[in-house]
Amino acid sequence: MDATTVATGSAASPEGDRDGFGQIEPAKDIVISGLRKSFGSTEVLGGIDLTIRGGDFVGLMGPNGAGKSTLIKILDGVYDRSSGQIQYGGEAVSKLGERPEVGFIHQDLGLVDELSISDNLRLGEQPMRRIGPFVDRGREREAAVRALANVGLELPVETLIGQLSPGEKTLVAITRVLERGARVIFVDEATSTLPPHDSHRLIEALKQTAARGATVIMVSHKLSEILDATNRVVLLLDGKIVADSPAASLDRSALVEMLVTREKEDVAQEATAKPRPAGGGKELLRLEDVKGGLIDGVDLILKSGEIVGLTGLPGSGLHDVAHLAHGTMKPRGGKVVRAAGCTSALVPPHRETQGGFLEQSTLENLTISSLSRWRSPVRLLRGGSERRDAGEVMDRLSVRPADPGAVFGTLSGGNKQKVVFGRALLSGPSVYVLCEPTRGVDVGTRMEIYKLIEDLASGGAGVLVVTSDSEDLFAICNRIAVVVDGRLGAFIEAEETNPQQLEAFI
Ligand SMILES: Nc1ncnc2c1ncn2[C@@H]1O[C@H](COP(=O)(O)OP(=O)(O)O)[C@@H](O)[C@H]1O
Ligand SMILES: [Mg+2]
Repeated sequence: MDATTVATGSAASPEGDRDGFGQIEPAKDIVISGLRKSFGSTEVLGGIDLTIRGGDFVGLMGPNGAGKSTLIKILDGVYDRSSGQIQYGGEAVSKLGERPEVGFIHQDLGLVDELSISDNLRLGEQPMRRIGPFVDRGREREAAVRALANVGLELPVETLIGQLSPGEKTLVAITRVLERGARVIFVDEATSTLPPHDSHRLIEALKQTAARGATVIMVSHKLSEILDATNRVVLLLDGKIVADSPAASLDRSALVEMLVTREKEDVAQEATAKPRPAGGGKELLRLEDVKGGLIDGVDLILKSGEIVGLTGLPGSGLHDVAHLAHGTMKPRGGKVVRAAGCTSALVPPHRETQGGFLEQSTLENLTISSLSRWRSPVRLLRGGSERRDAGEVMDRLSVRPADPGAVFGTLSGGNKQKVVFGRALLSGPSVYVLCEPTRGVDVGTRMEIYKLIEDLASGGAGVLVVTSDSEDLFAICNRIAVVVDGRLGAFIEAEETNPQQLEAFI
């Protein structure tokens, strides 16, 4: 019966414009003036003046903790502003959320795992958008299939959200916003957790929407997608706008210059100029035909002084290799051989859920794995050196706020990542297993992390970098291999390949 309904509810529907690629009504201007926000006594936004014209594609950039998400959440209405004004189409408003023509995709996507794709698309939809007094399931289903196809998703609409990859979830979130007829779209770091293929799909969907006249405001740390998609780059630093440039006037190096402070630029130069550590010291870790999780037999040797990179698509078993190497997953076959006294530390892939203790302080989150290091009969003494060592790591990684007492749960996404990374550093192991080490961190910190990993290897550690970001592989790794369907391909010397070649293997 549904099928008949689908057949009659044909092409020239009133939503034809939404589902097709016609121009949409231009978006209204957004004028933000003197916007301030404090949490307690901490001022996070210090007076934002920003005019976004209908049709702008703005890349909103800035270091982790700069206030990008806070600004977007205020515009949505998740937080109240402390002072200042927001105008939409010339009218003073308190927020932009809850209008069908303004869509928000936050860092947490706001989808319900237990519901199907089609239910999630419908979630919170305006009743007037329904067809007549009855919900026409068949037509709804058809519209959902079409809308998903527009962003390159070909999945049964009955699939539960919980079964989707992070990339697919993001594409559902964007579909939901587009389906509601959004003409203004805010996207907060949607691609930072996505593999390249899914990022491309998302960026394409946004570019297409922008080409039809929509306004897009996208937060991202990825230079290539900012340069590819936006026409204006706005840089936020410590809660203030410090630069606002047409994207056409920027190339990659100009953008890096704009983003990275003087001091960190040196780091960037050093990280690229320095010859890679040769690797090849004594063997620390060996995997012999190891099976477990999605992995169906992996051989791998990691030596002191070496940085080995692994990549692959979600579902390939990539992250299972990390857990098998570190020991958080028990192999169901094969052997993991460690050199005598070899210890390892893991930076897990899903730091949002596996990363830290939300209610504890930054200090406690940093030192939890290495308390024995500061064990001293005199408690006071221990507290002092613990704080000092943790402080050094926080400094090195530019953790913001720079307060060891700050509650972990209130840190911005990128800063949470840094703390989890810092914890691995503090435990001082011989092997580092680093999953997605630069996911969600700003450009300056990325350079800092690259330098740090190189220093760890020069200092004699073995580093396994397990990543879906090809920049990680080419910036620091000596050898690279691709995981496909639970198996590891041959290792390639990083110097002998390039990102395009590698992508073909994935
Ligand atoms: N609910 C909150 N309570 C206290 N501080 C917060 C809260 N949300 C964000 N902050 C602080 O505000 C600052 C900016 O955070 P955020 O807007 O998430 O940064 P960004 O998105 O630019 O990385 C950070 O220092 C963060 O710790
Ligand atoms: Mg953020």
